[in-house]
Amino acid sequence: MFFFLIKMNFKGKDIISIKDFSKKEINYILSHSKKMVPYAKGERCTDILKGKVLSSFFFEPSTRTRLSFESAMNRLGGRVIGFADPTATSQKKGESLADTIRMADSYSDVIVVRHPQEGAARLAAEFADVPVLNAGDGAGRHPTQCLLDLFTILIEKKKIEKNNIVLLGDLKYGRTVHSLAYALSLFGTELTFVSPENLKMPKEIVQECRELGVEPKHTSNLEKAIKDADVLYVTRIQRERFPDAEEYNRVVGTYRVDNDLLKQAKENLIIMHPLPRITEIHPEVDKTPHALYFKQAFNGVPVRMALLSLVVGGKL
Ligand code: CP
Repeated sequence: MFFFLIKMNFKGKDIISIKDFSKKEINYILSHSKKMVPYAKGERCTDILKGKVLSSFFFEPSTRTRLSFESAMNRLGGRVIGFADPTATSQKKGESLADTIRMADSYSDVIVVRHPQEGAARLAAEFADVPVLNAGDGAGRHPTQCLLDLFTILIEKKKIEKNNIVLLGDLKYGRTVHSLAYALSLFGTELTFVSPENLKMPKEIVQECRELGVEPKHTSNLEKAIKDADVLYVTRIQRERFPDAEEYNRVVGTYRVDNDLLKQAKENLIIMHPLPRITEIHPEVDKTPHALYFKQAFNGVPVRMALLSLVVGGKL
């Protein structure tokens, strides 16, 4: 359900962590995102950010986050500068993140930054006057992914509250599930965490859920957990964050969602995944009505359009 909410002012605001937002503010962003859908699809046109420039600085690989931010800025009538390969920048000569961000601050009106180090986006925000949007910082947070995940659940289930949501896979290193567990707890959903023993949700995230009144269940038994699930949120094992390859090889392939497993699921179960997927969802699942992950990835465009327009100050 979308509510008409009292107007809120996000102009100039950094978006570093979902924890910086109240439930009311999240609802406001989601309702703004809904308005952006026809523009994100190219069915309607707008130039509310004409003359504005986005710096898109990706120090780590990305397909969806980078391209959907770029699509969002273009759909709003703005322009994009930046890089997807930091080795082609003066970082290669030893320039600091702070100085690189100072440059973006003087060349653009908003900065999107992805970085392998936790806390890098918060640091970037300290060196920029223009708003900084965290596009993922190490195993830390990924707030814009979290907002598009919430948006997807809201669109598909008509409400976020009262859903039984299973988070599956690498809950230790997967930054999307860290942000999402917190945000879902704000909405009071039921949470079940399914992971290998050594990739459990960090204690501090579990504690955040508890402080918001949600007591997550933990299990390694996916077959059991899927029976009552309304949403199954799958994540890949984050190979790049493992300190040793042997440990990765021990757990990769622990879980695989396939049509056989789905025989036990509710008819209206939706399967989400921030992508990229590796082997954790069999391609045969793509053709089932449960598969929402590609639509979820599209939802990154209207949600990021909403965020860019709100922080830069364009009015639809
Ligand atoms: N979901 C997500 O962050 O995907 P990318 O790494 O491709 O941006």
